[in-house]
Amino acid sequence: MSWLYRNFVRPALFTLDSEEIHNRTLRLLGWAGRRPVLRDALASFCGAPQLPIELCGLHFLNPVGLAAGMDKQAEAVPVWEALGFGFVELGGVTWQSQPGNPAPRLFRAVAEGALVNRMGFNNPGAETIAATLAAWRAAGQWPQHPVGINLGKSKTTPLEKAAEDYANSFRVLWPQADFFVVNVSSPNTPNLRQLQDKAALDEILAALQEVNGELSGVGGPWSAATAAGHGARSSGKQQSMKPILVKVAPDLSFEALDEILELAGPRQIAGLVATNTTTARPDASDAELKRVYGEAGGLSGRPLRARSTEIIRHLWRQTKGSLPIIGVGGIFNADDAWEKITAGASLVQLYTGLVYEGPGIAKAIVTGLRQRMNERGFSSLKEVVGIG
Ligand SMILES: Cc1cc2nc3c(=O)[nH]c(=O)nc-3n(C[C@H](O)[C@H](O)[C@H](O)COP(=O)(O)O)c2cc1C
Repeated sequence: MSWLYRNFVRPALFTLDSEEIHNRTLRLLGWAGRRPVLRDALASFCGAPQLPIELCGLHFLNPVGLAAGMDKQAEAVPVWEALGFGFVELGGVTWQSQPGNPAPRLFRAVAEGALVNRMGFNNPGAETIAATLAAWRAAGQWPQHPVGINLGKSKTTPLEKAAEDYANSFRVLWPQADFFVVNVSSPNTPNLRQLQDKAALDEILAALQEVNGELSGVGGPWSAATAAGHGARSSGKQQSMKPILVKVAPDLSFEALDEILELAGPRQIAGLVATNTTTARPDASDAELKRVYGEAGGLSGRPLRARSTEIIRHLWRQTKGSLPIIGVGGIFNADDAWEKITAGASLVQLYTGLVYEGPGIAKAIVTGLRQRMNERGFSSLKEVVGIG
């Protein structure tokens, strides 16, 4: 499957503008996802074997997820399971609808299996996405796997009003998703990364947990004590509080990461997503690479792999494995996923790998992970997390 894609489909697709082909593919997948016959046909080629794992009170079909940014508008929600993914993260979603940065804003560095993007949270806004998700549910097309939402800050909202902006989105999207990821690490919204600063992030998380407590019926104002029931299935009118994770940049120092970790207990961070794209650039030898790496934005794909793994390893060590990590950055095959999991990630995600390796990638990775586990005598994925 990957061979066919790499040699025949990808060369044809890569003659077209990156964003145009992305939009067309998403429309096609959305169309196919609405048709059970097509969905089943896709699943018979691309469906992944079982490799279940429980995390944050959720049941994941397998540990390979779709990273944020691919399905920004929740256009193709039912199709990702057929393509073998064990969970998805939709968005980034902002409170205000916004067009994002002017095009062109997505560039391929083919020789290095990389992308540079400065999309800038183009999305129709939280209320529209909430309605789209409700429509998928009403149509009986909701997937079996957990669905997460990546929350960003609206471009026009000043930093000092960020907490309110995130909380507004969270409130309307709360009933529609299983977990949420606070994205304070995109390089494409001016100054957004400053929100990784401990005090700013603390304020955002406090606002979100307040809403979380209120909507789950656990209580408001939110307190650490009320969050003790977090992740558990509650009785009566109470529902579980939704897991809130934080997505970090690969460009943060270990000291800055440690400051974020200090919030994990007090603000009941359910886990970390490591990492977003990087503003750093590798040395480029040829002119085409130099041109693409010269574009402003975040770099993803192969050149990000090692740094993102390094961050995961640091987070795992600092927390002694007590805080779940979703590893993302440059995963193209089972070896890359194994590297992330053994460094401390309980789940992995990918975006750029899908663009370069095609729709068989999740199945290939899950199959490869199972093989490695069998060879080494592991019976559950949890045993592998952080071993190396
Ligand atoms: C075009 C594009 C758009 C993205 N949009 C988002 C986003 O909205 N929110 C987010 O947290 N990450 C976003 N990302 C980052 C990815 O989720 C992921 O963290 C990063 O690309 C590294 O993974 P990869 O090497 O598998 O692509 C985007 C990445 C790309 C390439």
